[in-house]
Amino acid sequence: MTLIKWTDDLNLNIRSIDDQHRKLVSMINNFYMHLQQKSNKELIGKLIRDMKEYTTVHFADEEKLFDRYGFHESAAHKKKHQDFVDKVTDLEDRFNKGKLILSIEITNFLKTWLTEHIKGADAGYVKLLQSKGVI
Ligand SMILES: [Fe+2]
Ligand SMILES: [Fe+2]
Repeated sequence: MTLIKWTDDLNLNIRSIDDQHRKLVSMINNFYMHLQQKSNKELIGKLIRDMKEYTTVHFADEEKLFDRYGFHESAAHKKKHQDFVDKVTDLEDRFNKGKLILSIEITNFLKTWLTEHIKGADAGYVKLLQSKGVI
């Protein structure tokens, strides 16, 4: 079963950003699938690393746009991004130390965080970016 289904309410109608969000969703779904299949530790570790890396790239791209166009909620939004990266880094550390992680806890966190963030915080910059012609 797929963890996160891409639904229309996740579309911000800014193609460059929607594409990155879709990629994040598919990475989380893939991670979830491998946890369920109890895939080997090396692979799970790599998927966590890849998710963290791609998340960092995506956040940096959004933040560049905030800086370029003077998004008024930039500071609070960047803080949310940083908190998430900290959380994923913590997850990675725990995993690398061989601590048992409840997959349901992690995957629910990733799912809820990403979908709520897109529909909440990210939705808040759409008008501004569209008015600047970002597509
Ligand atoms: Fe985003
Ligand atoms: Fe964001």
